[in-house]
Amino acid sequence: MIYKKVKYNSRNHTSCLTRRLQIPIWKLFVYFVLTTVIIFVLQMQRPQFSFEWTLTTVTTSVATTTVKPTTTVVPTTEEEVIRYVNISSYNNTRTLTHEYDIDFVRFVSGVNNGKRFDLKPINVNPYVYITNPTTKCSNPPLKNNANISILILIKSEPDNFHLRQTIRWTWESFTAYHDYVRIVFLLGISPDPEDKNTDVLVEHARYNDIVQQNFIDKYRNLTLKTVMGYKWTEQYCSEATHVLMQDDDYHFNVKNLAAYIKRYKSPDSIFAGVLRLKSPTVRRPTSKYYVSNQEYAHDIYPPFLVGNSYILSMRYAKQIAMIIPYVKSIPMADTYIGMLAMKLNISLKNEKDFTIKNCNDFQKVISCRGYTSTKEILKDWKNFVNRAILKVNI
Ligand SMILES: *[C@@H]1O[C@H](CO)[C@@H](O)[C@H](O)[C@H]1NC(C)=O
Ligand SMILES: *[C@@H]1O[C@H](CO)[C@@H](O)[C@H](O)[C@H]1NC(C)=O
Ligand SMILES: *[C@@H]1O[C@H](CO)[C@@H](O)[C@H](O)[C@H]1NC(C)=O
Ligand SMILES: *[C@@H]1O[C@H](CO)[C@@H](O)[C@H](O)[C@H]1NC(C)=O
Ligand SMILES: *[C@@H]1O[C@H](CO)[C@@H](O)[C@H](O)[C@H]1NC(C)=O
Repeated sequence: MIYKKVKYNSRNHTSCLTRRLQIPIWKLFVYFVLTTVIIFVLQMQRPQFSFEWTLTTVTTSVATTTVKPTTTVVPTTEEEVIRYVNISSYNNTRTLTHEYDIDFVRFVSGVNNGKRFDLKPINVNPYVYITNPTTKCSNPPLKNNANISILILIKSEPDNFHLRQTIRWTWESFTAYHDYVRIVFLLGISPDPEDKNTDVLVEHARYNDIVQQNFIDKYRNLTLKTVMGYKWTEQYCSEATHVLMQDDDYHFNVKNLAAYIKRYKSPDSIFAGVLRLKSPTVRRPTSKYYVSNQEYAHDIYPPFLVGNSYILSMRYAKQIAMIIPYVKSIPMADTYIGMLAMKLNISLKNEKDFTIKNCNDFQKVISCRGYTSTKEILKDWKNFVNRAILKVNI
Protein backbone atom coordinates (compact mmCIF):
# COMPACT_ATOMS: atom_id res chain seq x y z
CA MET A 1 0.00 0.00 0.00
CA ILE A 2 2.77 2.36 -0.89
CA TYR A 3 1.43 5.48 -2.48
CA LYS A 4 2.69 8.91 -2.43
CA LYS A 5 1.66 12.32 -3.37
CA VAL A 6 4.07 14.95 -4.43
CA LYS A 7 2.70 18.29 -5.33
CA TYR A 8 4.49 20.45 -7.78
CA ASN A 9 3.79 23.03 -10.37
CA SER A 10 2.71 21.46 -13.60
CA ARG A 11 2.99 24.53 -15.76
CA ASN A 12 6.26 23.47 -17.28
CA HIS A 13 4.96 20.27 -18.69
CA THR A 14 1.70 21.87 -19.69
CA SER A 15 3.46 24.32 -21.85
CA CYS A 16 5.83 21.77 -23.30
CA LEU A 17 3.02 19.46 -24.21
CA THR A 18 0.94 22.08 -25.92
CA ARG A 19 3.88 23.68 -27.59
CA ARG A 20 5.04 20.36 -28.78
CA LEU A 21 1.83 19.87 -30.66
CA GLN A 22 2.31 23.14 -32.51
CA ILE A 23 6.01 23.35 -33.27
CA PRO A 24 7.25 22.83 -36.84
CA ILE A 25 8.86 19.62 -38.09
CA TRP A 26 12.47 20.74 -37.81
CA LYS A 27 11.91 21.63 -34.17
CA LEU A 28 10.35 18.25 -33.56
CA PHE A 29 13.43 16.68 -35.07
CA VAL A 30 15.73 18.66 -32.80
CA TYR A 31 13.48 17.79 -29.89
CA PHE A 32 13.69 14.09 -30.57
CA VAL A 33 17.45 14.18 -30.94
CA LEU A 34 17.73 16.01 -27.63
CA THR A 35 15.27 13.59 -26.01
CA THR A 36 17.38 10.65 -27.10
CA VAL A 37 20.57 12.25 -25.85
CA ILE A 38 19.02 13.14 -22.51
CA ILE A 39 17.48 9.73 -21.99
CA PHE A 40 20.85 8.26 -22.80
CA VAL A 41 22.56 10.53 -20.31
CA LEU A 42 19.98 9.76 -17.64
CA GLN A 43 20.39 6.06 -18.17
CA MET A 44 24.14 6.43 -17.94
CA GLN A 45 23.68 8.09 -14.60
CA ARG A 46 21.57 5.26 -13.28
CA PRO A 47 22.69 1.99 -14.77
CA GLN A 48 20.33 0.04 -12.51
CA PHE A 49 17.48 1.26 -14.70
CA SER A 50 18.80 -0.35 -17.80
CA PHE A 51 15.96 -1.63 -19.90
CA GLU A 52 17.98 -4.03 -21.95
CA TRP A 53 16.47 -7.42 -22.17
CA THR A 54 19.36 -9.67 -22.77
CA LEU A 55 18.23 -12.50 -20.52
CA THR A 56 17.13 -15.53 -22.43
CA THR A 57 16.08 -17.57 -19.45
CA VAL A 58 14.60 -16.23 -16.30
CA THR A 59 16.66 -16.69 -13.20
CA THR A 60 14.54 -17.97 -10.39
CA SER A 61 16.87 -17.18 -7.54
CA VAL A 62 16.97 -13.50 -6.79
CA ALA A 63 18.94 -13.34 -3.60
CA THR A 64 19.56 -9.62 -3.75
CA THR A 65 15.95 -8.55 -4.07
CA THR A 66 14.15 -10.58 -1.43
CA VAL A 67 11.20 -8.79 0.04
CA LYS A 68 11.16 -8.36 3.79
CA PRO A 69 8.10 -10.19 5.02
CA THR A 70 5.81 -8.47 7.48
CA THR A 71 4.79 -11.85 8.78
CA THR A 72 7.30 -14.34 10.06
CA VAL A 73 6.91 -16.72 7.16
CA VAL A 74 6.24 -15.87 3.56
CA PRO A 75 5.31 -19.02 1.71
CA THR A 76 6.69 -19.39 -1.74
CA THR A 77 5.65 -22.77 -3.02
CA GLU A 78 2.13 -23.30 -4.20
CA GLU A 79 1.50 -25.96 -1.56
CA GLU A 80 2.64 -23.65 1.21
CA VAL A 81 0.36 -20.95 -0.06
CA ILE A 82 -2.63 -23.26 -0.17
CA ARG A 83 -1.90 -24.23 3.40
CA TYR A 84 -1.52 -20.61 4.50
CA VAL A 85 -4.19 -19.08 2.40
CA ASN A 86 -6.76 -21.44 3.73
CA ILE A 87 -10.09 -19.73 3.67
CA SER A 88 -11.69 -21.80 6.40
CA SER A 89 -8.87 -21.11 8.83
CA TYR A 90 -9.55 -17.38 8.59
CA ASN A 91 -13.10 -17.78 9.85
CA ASN A 92 -13.88 -14.95 7.52
CA THR A 93 -16.03 -16.37 4.78
CA ARG A 94 -19.12 -16.13 6.94
CA THR A 95 -18.31 -13.27 9.28
CA LEU A 96 -16.74 -11.11 6.60
CA THR A 97 -19.98 -10.81 4.72
CA HIS A 98 -19.63 -7.33 3.28
CA GLU A 99 -23.16 -7.68 2.86
CA TYR A 100 -24.09 -10.70 0.83
CA ASP A 101 -23.37 -13.90 2.66
CA ILE A 102 -23.46 -16.08 -0.39
CA ASP A 103 -21.25 -18.59 -2.12
CA PHE A 104 -19.62 -16.46 -4.79
CA VAL A 105 -17.94 -19.45 -6.39
CA ARG A 106 -21.34 -20.87 -7.18
CA PHE A 107 -22.60 -17.42 -8.10
CA VAL A 108 -19.86 -16.97 -10.71
CA SER A 109 -20.20 -20.43 -12.18
CA GLY A 110 -23.97 -19.92 -12.31
CA VAL A 111 -23.63 -16.62 -14.16
CA ASN A 112 -21.09 -18.19 -16.52
CA ASN A 113 -23.62 -20.92 -17.27
CA GLY A 114 -26.30 -18.41 -18.17
CA LYS A 115 -28.08 -18.38 -14.83
CA ARG A 116 -29.58 -15.12 -13.60
CA PHE A 117 -29.56 -14.14 -9.96
CA ASP A 118 -31.93 -11.54 -8.63
CA LEU A 119 -29.37 -9.85 -6.44
CA LYS A 120 -29.52 -6.12 -5.85
CA PRO A 121 -26.11 -4.50 -6.42
CA ILE A 122 -24.78 -2.87 -3.25
CA ASN A 123 -21.55 -1.45 -4.63
CA VAL A 124 -22.22 0.58 -7.73
CA ASN A 125 -20.14 3.60 -8.64
CA PRO A 126 -21.91 6.57 -10.18
CA TYR A 127 -18.72 7.75 -11.88
CA VAL A 128 -18.43 8.14 -15.63
CA TYR A 129 -15.49 8.03 -18.02
CA ILE A 130 -13.93 11.32 -18.97
CA THR A 131 -11.35 9.73 -21.21
CA ASN A 132 -11.66 6.18 -22.47
CA PRO A 133 -9.43 4.53 -25.05
CA THR A 134 -12.18 2.05 -25.95
CA THR A 135 -10.34 0.56 -28.91
CA LYS A 136 -6.99 0.18 -27.20
CA CYS A 137 -7.10 -3.62 -27.41
CA SER A 138 -9.09 -4.02 -30.61
CA ASN A 139 -7.36 -1.53 -32.90
CA PRO A 140 -4.82 -2.75 -33.78
CA PRO A 141 -6.04 -6.12 -32.52
CA LEU A 142 -4.23 -7.52 -29.54
CA LYS A 143 -2.44 -10.67 -30.65
CA ASN A 144 -1.39 -13.71 -28.68
CA ASN A 145 2.16 -14.92 -28.52
CA ALA A 146 2.27 -18.53 -27.33
CA ASN A 147 -1.31 -17.98 -26.17
CA ILE A 148 -0.29 -15.01 -24.04
CA SER A 149 -1.28 -11.37 -24.29
CA ILE A 150 -1.02 -8.88 -21.49
CA LEU A 151 -2.94 -5.80 -20.49
CA ILE A 152 -0.94 -3.52 -18.23
CA LEU A 153 -3.01 -1.26 -16.00
CA ILE A 154 -0.96 1.51 -14.46
CA LYS A 155 -2.46 3.39 -11.56
CA SER A 156 -1.43 6.97 -12.03
CA GLU A 157 -2.81 10.38 -11.12
CA PRO A 158 -3.21 13.66 -13.01
CA ASP A 159 -0.04 15.22 -11.58
CA ASN A 160 2.18 12.34 -12.65
CA PHE A 161 2.64 13.19 -16.29
CA HIS A 162 6.40 12.77 -15.81
CA LEU A 163 5.99 9.18 -14.62
CA ARG A 164 3.63 8.28 -17.45
CA GLN A 165 6.00 9.83 -19.93
CA THR A 166 8.91 7.82 -18.55
CA ILE A 167 6.90 4.65 -19.09
CA ARG A 168 5.87 5.70 -22.60
CA TRP A 169 9.41 6.55 -23.60
CA THR A 170 10.85 3.29 -22.42
CA TRP A 171 7.95 1.28 -23.82
CA GLU A 172 8.37 2.92 -27.24
CA SER A 173 11.58 1.02 -27.85
CA PHE A 174 10.10 -2.41 -27.15
CA THR A 175 8.27 -2.69 -30.43
CA ALA A 176 8.61 -6.49 -30.43
CA TYR A 177 6.06 -6.60 -27.63
CA HIS A 178 3.60 -4.05 -28.93
CA ASP A 179 1.39 -6.64 -30.65
CA TYR A 180 0.95 -8.67 -27.47
CA VAL A 181 0.92 -6.06 -24.76
CA ARG A 182 -1.19 -2.95 -24.22
CA ILE A 183 -0.75 -0.28 -21.58
CA VAL A 184 -3.35 2.06 -20.16
CA PHE A 185 -3.16 4.49 -17.26
CA LEU A 186 -5.88 4.67 -14.61
CA LEU A 187 -6.71 8.14 -13.30
CA GLY A 188 -9.27 10.04 -11.30
CA ILE A 189 -9.68 13.77 -11.61
CA SER A 190 -7.45 16.32 -9.99
CA PRO A 191 -8.93 17.95 -6.89
CA ASP A 192 -7.04 21.03 -7.94
CA PRO A 193 -9.37 23.37 -9.84
CA GLU A 194 -6.45 24.52 -12.00
CA ASP A 195 -6.14 23.28 -15.53
CA LYS A 196 -4.51 19.92 -14.74
CA ASN A 197 -7.60 18.14 -15.95
CA THR A 198 -7.31 19.90 -19.28
CA ASP A 199 -3.71 18.70 -19.40
CA VAL A 200 -4.95 15.15 -19.09
CA LEU A 201 -7.37 15.66 -21.99
CA VAL A 202 -4.57 17.02 -24.15
CA GLU A 203 -2.34 14.15 -23.10
CA HIS A 204 -5.02 11.59 -23.89
CA ALA A 205 -5.68 13.20 -27.27
CA ARG A 206 -1.99 12.72 -27.99
CA TYR A 207 -1.42 9.21 -26.61
CA ASN A 208 -4.87 7.59 -26.38
CA ASP A 209 -3.98 5.60 -23.27
CA ILE A 210 -5.77 7.21 -20.33
CA VAL A 211 -8.75 5.64 -18.60
CA GLN A 212 -10.16 8.37 -16.38
CA GLN A 213 -13.36 8.67 -14.40
CA ASN A 214 -14.74 11.69 -12.60
CA PHE A 215 -13.99 10.74 -9.00
CA ILE A 216 -11.47 12.80 -7.06
CA ASP A 217 -8.03 11.25 -7.34
CA LYS A 218 -7.09 10.73 -3.67
CA TYR A 219 -5.46 7.87 -1.84
CA ARG A 220 -8.70 6.93 -0.15
CA ASN A 221 -10.33 6.66 -3.57
CA LEU A 222 -7.79 4.14 -4.76
CA THR A 223 -10.39 1.40 -4.53
CA LEU A 224 -12.54 3.35 -7.02
CA LYS A 225 -9.57 3.52 -9.37
CA THR A 226 -8.80 -0.17 -8.98
CA VAL A 227 -12.44 -1.14 -9.50
CA MET A 228 -12.52 1.09 -12.58
CA GLY A 229 -9.50 -0.83 -13.88
CA TYR A 230 -11.20 -4.19 -13.46
CA LYS A 231 -14.44 -2.97 -14.99
CA TRP A 232 -12.61 -1.41 -17.91
CA THR A 233 -10.67 -4.62 -18.47
CA GLU A 234 -13.83 -6.69 -18.52
CA GLN A 235 -15.58 -4.35 -20.90
CA TYR A 236 -12.84 -3.19 -23.26
CA CYS A 237 -9.96 -5.62 -23.14
CA SER A 238 -11.24 -9.05 -22.23
CA GLU A 239 -9.29 -10.48 -25.16
CA ALA A 240 -6.05 -10.19 -23.18
CA THR A 241 -5.08 -13.37 -21.34
CA HIS A 242 -3.43 -11.67 -18.37
CA VAL A 243 -3.53 -8.40 -16.51
CA LEU A 244 -0.64 -6.70 -14.78
CA MET A 245 -1.75 -4.13 -12.21
CA GLN A 246 0.92 -1.67 -11.28
CA ASP A 247 1.77 1.76 -9.87
CA ASP A 248 3.24 4.43 -12.10
CA ASP A 249 6.57 4.55 -10.28
CA TYR A 250 7.19 0.86 -10.91
CA HIS A 251 9.01 -0.74 -13.79
CA PHE A 252 8.06 -4.01 -15.38
CA ASN A 253 10.18 -6.46 -17.28
CA VAL A 254 7.77 -7.81 -19.87
CA LYS A 255 10.14 -10.50 -21.04
CA ASN A 256 10.39 -11.99 -17.57
CA LEU A 257 6.68 -11.55 -17.05
CA ALA A 258 5.84 -13.46 -20.22
CA ALA A 259 8.35 -16.17 -19.29
CA TYR A 260 6.78 -16.43 -15.86
CA ILE A 261 3.31 -16.90 -17.34
CA LYS A 262 4.60 -19.43 -19.85
CA ARG A 263 6.18 -21.65 -17.26
CA TYR A 264 3.19 -21.50 -14.94
CA LYS A 265 1.43 -24.86 -14.68
CA SER A 266 -2.06 -23.47 -15.27
CA PRO A 267 -1.67 -20.04 -16.87
CA ASP A 268 -5.33 -19.21 -16.53
CA SER A 269 -5.14 -19.60 -12.73
CA ILE A 270 -2.51 -17.01 -11.92
CA PHE A 271 -2.91 -14.45 -9.15
CA ALA A 272 0.58 -13.59 -8.00
CA GLY A 273 2.62 -10.81 -6.52
CA VAL A 274 3.85 -9.85 -3.07
CA LEU A 275 1.62 -11.72 -0.63
CA ARG A 276 0.58 -10.35 2.74
CA LEU A 277 -0.95 -12.72 5.26
CA LYS A 278 -2.87 -11.80 8.37
CA SER A 279 -2.22 -8.12 7.95
CA PRO A 280 -3.85 -6.16 10.80
CA THR A 281 -6.48 -3.53 10.12
CA VAL A 282 -5.07 -0.11 11.00
CA ARG A 283 -7.33 1.63 13.52
CA ARG A 284 -5.26 4.75 14.19
CA PRO A 285 -7.37 7.59 12.74
CA THR A 286 -4.28 9.59 11.82
CA SER A 287 -2.88 6.82 9.66
CA LYS A 288 -3.09 6.86 5.90
CA TYR A 289 -4.27 3.26 6.08
CA TYR A 290 -6.96 3.93 8.68
CA VAL A 291 -10.12 1.92 8.24
CA SER A 292 -13.02 2.39 10.63
CA ASN A 293 -15.04 -0.36 12.25
CA GLN A 294 -18.02 0.64 10.13
CA GLU A 295 -15.98 0.27 6.97
CA TYR A 296 -14.47 -3.06 7.98
CA ALA A 297 -15.24 -4.82 11.23
CA HIS A 298 -12.41 -7.35 11.34
CA ASP A 299 -9.04 -6.82 12.87
CA ILE A 300 -7.26 -8.93 10.29
CA TYR A 301 -7.43 -8.64 6.52
CA PRO A 302 -7.79 -11.65 4.30
CA PRO A 303 -4.61 -12.53 2.44
CA PHE A 304 -3.91 -9.98 -0.26
CA LEU A 305 -1.32 -9.03 -2.84
CA VAL A 306 0.39 -5.69 -2.32
CA GLY A 307 -1.18 -3.35 -4.87
CA ASN A 308 2.05 -1.91 -6.24
CA SER A 309 2.43 -4.71 -8.75
CA TYR A 310 0.72 -8.03 -9.34
CA ILE A 311 -0.38 -10.28 -12.18
CA LEU A 312 -3.60 -12.16 -12.64
CA SER A 313 -5.21 -14.17 -15.39
CA MET A 314 -8.15 -12.74 -17.29
CA ARG A 315 -10.40 -15.51 -15.96
CA TYR A 316 -9.87 -14.17 -12.44
CA ALA A 317 -10.08 -10.53 -13.52
CA LYS A 318 -13.52 -11.22 -14.99
CA GLN A 319 -14.66 -13.02 -11.83
CA ILE A 320 -13.48 -10.10 -9.69
CA ALA A 321 -15.28 -7.63 -11.95
CA MET A 322 -18.41 -9.76 -11.83
CA ILE A 323 -18.74 -9.78 -8.03
CA ILE A 324 -17.63 -6.20 -7.28
CA PRO A 325 -21.25 -4.92 -7.38
CA TYR A 326 -22.22 -7.42 -4.67
CA VAL A 327 -19.39 -6.91 -2.20
CA LYS A 328 -19.22 -3.76 -0.08
CA SER A 329 -16.11 -1.74 -0.75
CA ILE A 330 -13.39 -0.74 1.70
CA PRO A 331 -11.01 2.18 1.19
CA MET A 332 -7.88 0.00 1.03
CA ALA A 333 -7.79 -1.22 -2.54
CA ASP A 334 -5.45 -4.19 -2.32
CA THR A 335 -7.16 -5.64 0.72
CA TYR A 336 -10.52 -5.22 -1.02
CA ILE A 337 -9.23 -7.25 -3.97
CA GLY A 338 -7.88 -9.78 -1.45
CA MET A 339 -11.34 -10.02 0.05
CA LEU A 340 -12.88 -10.63 -3.38
CA ALA A 341 -10.25 -13.26 -4.16
CA MET A 342 -11.05 -15.00 -0.90
CA LYS A 343 -14.76 -14.97 -1.69
CA LEU A 344 -13.93 -16.48 -5.07
CA ASN A 345 -11.74 -19.14 -3.44
CA ILE A 346 -8.76 -17.97 -5.45
CA SER A 347 -5.43 -18.71 -3.85
CA LEU A 348 -2.90 -15.94 -4.06
CA LYS A 349 0.68 -16.74 -4.75
CA ASN A 350 3.75 -15.03 -3.40
CA GLU A 351 6.14 -14.54 -6.28
CA LYS A 352 9.60 -13.38 -5.36
CA ASP A 353 10.31 -11.86 -8.76
CA PHE A 354 7.73 -9.20 -8.02
CA THR A 355 9.54 -6.87 -5.69
CA ILE A 356 8.41 -3.76 -3.93
CA LYS A 357 11.99 -2.71 -3.46
CA ASN A 358 13.92 -0.36 -5.64
CA CYS A 359 15.25 -1.75 -8.87
CA ASN A 360 18.66 -3.29 -8.28
CA ASP A 361 18.87 -5.91 -10.91
CA PHE A 362 16.09 -5.14 -13.30
CA GLN A 363 17.01 -8.03 -15.58
CA LYS A 364 16.18 -10.60 -12.97
CA VAL A 365 12.87 -9.37 -11.68
CA ILE A 366 9.38 -9.00 -13.08
CA SER A 367 8.77 -5.67 -11.44
CA CYS A 368 10.42 -3.28 -9.05
CA ARG A 369 10.19 0.29 -7.88
CA GLY A 370 11.76 2.60 -10.42
CA TYR A 371 12.74 5.78 -8.73
CA THR A 372 13.43 6.03 -5.05
CA SER A 373 11.42 9.20 -4.85
CA THR A 374 9.12 11.16 -7.05
CA LYS A 375 11.38 14.12 -6.37
CA GLU A 376 14.19 12.30 -8.06
CA ILE A 377 12.35 11.71 -11.30
CA LEU A 378 10.91 15.18 -11.06
CA LYS A 379 14.41 16.56 -10.94
CA ASP A 380 15.28 14.63 -14.09
CA TRP A 381 12.09 15.81 -15.69
CA LYS A 382 12.75 19.42 -14.81
CA ASN A 383 16.25 19.14 -16.21
CA PHE A 384 14.76 17.64 -19.31
CA VAL A 385 12.24 20.41 -19.65
CA ASN A 386 14.80 23.11 -18.99
CA ARG A 387 17.52 21.74 -21.17
CA ALA A 388 15.54 20.42 -24.08
CA ILE A 389 12.09 21.75 -24.66
CA LEU A 390 12.41 25.30 -23.50
CA LYS A 391 15.67 25.87 -25.36
CA VAL A 392 14.21 24.49 -28.57
CA ASN A 393 11.36 26.93 -28.36
CA ILE A 394 13.35 30.11 -27.83
C1 LIG B 1 -7.98 -25.44 6.18
O1 LIG B 1 -8.37 -25.13 7.49
C2 LIG B 1 -9.32 -26.03 8.05
C3 LIG B 1 -9.77 -25.48 9.40
O2 LIG B 1 -8.72 -24.90 10.10
C4 LIG B 1 -8.67 -27.42 8.13
O3 LIG B 1 -9.59 -28.34 8.62
C5 LIG B 1 -8.23 -27.85 6.71
O4 LIG B 1 -7.54 -29.08 6.77
C6 LIG B 1 -7.32 -26.80 6.09
N1 LIG B 1 -7.05 -27.15 4.70
C7 LIG B 1 -5.82 -27.18 4.18
C8 LIG B 1 -5.70 -27.47 2.71
O5 LIG B 1 -4.82 -26.91 4.81
C1 LIG C 1 -15.66 -17.23 13.98
O1 LIG C 1 -16.91 -16.59 13.68
C2 LIG C 1 -17.92 -16.88 14.64
C3 LIG C 1 -19.26 -16.36 14.11
O2 LIG C 1 -19.22 -14.98 13.89
C4 LIG C 1 -17.51 -16.30 15.97
O3 LIG C 1 -18.49 -16.51 16.95
C5 LIG C 1 -16.20 -16.96 16.41
O4 LIG C 1 -15.74 -16.43 17.61
C6 LIG C 1 -15.13 -16.83 15.34
N1 LIG C 1 -13.98 -17.64 15.66
C7 LIG C 1 -12.71 -17.20 15.61
C8 LIG C 1 -11.64 -18.16 15.96
O5 LIG C 1 -12.45 -16.05 15.27
C1 LIG D 1 -2.18 -22.59 -27.33
O1 LIG D 1 -3.41 -23.15 -26.91
C2 LIG D 1 -3.83 -24.23 -27.68
C3 LIG D 1 -5.21 -24.64 -27.22
O2 LIG D 1 -5.29 -24.64 -25.84
C4 LIG D 1 -2.81 -25.37 -27.57
O3 LIG D 1 -3.21 -26.47 -28.35
C5 LIG D 1 -1.46 -24.86 -28.05
O4 LIG D 1 -0.48 -25.86 -27.85
C6 LIG D 1 -1.05 -23.60 -27.28
N1 LIG D 1 0.15 -23.06 -27.87
C7 LIG D 1 1.25 -22.77 -27.15
C8 LIG D 1 2.39 -22.25 -27.92
O5 LIG D 1 1.30 -22.91 -25.93
C1 LIG E 1 -13.60 10.35 -3.81
O1 LIG E 1 -14.27 10.81 -4.96
C2 LIG E 1 -15.57 11.31 -4.71
C3 LIG E 1 -16.17 11.69 -6.04
O2 LIG E 1 -15.41 12.65 -6.68
C4 LIG E 1 -15.51 12.50 -3.76
O3 LIG E 1 -16.82 12.93 -3.47
C5 LIG E 1 -14.80 12.08 -2.49
O4 LIG E 1 -14.63 13.19 -1.66
C6 LIG E 1 -13.45 11.47 -2.82
N1 LIG E 1 -12.84 10.98 -1.62
C7 LIG E 1 -11.76 11.54 -1.10
C8 LIG E 1 -11.21 10.90 0.12
O5 LIG E 1 -11.24 12.50 -1.59
C1 LIG F 1 -11.61 -23.92 -3.14
O1 LIG F 1 -10.49 -24.34 -3.91
C2 LIG F 1 -9.93 -25.56 -3.50
C3 LIG F 1 -8.73 -25.81 -4.36
O2 LIG F 1 -7.90 -24.71 -4.40
C4 LIG F 1 -10.97 -26.65 -3.61
O3 LIG F 1 -10.40 -27.85 -3.15
C5 LIG F 1 -12.18 -26.30 -2.81
O4 LIG F 1 -13.20 -27.25 -3.00
C6 LIG F 1 -12.71 -24.95 -3.21
N1 LIG F 1 -13.79 -24.54 -2.34
C7 LIG F 1 -14.94 -24.05 -2.78
C8 LIG F 1 -15.94 -23.65 -1.75
O5 LIG F 1 -15.16 -23.90 -3.96
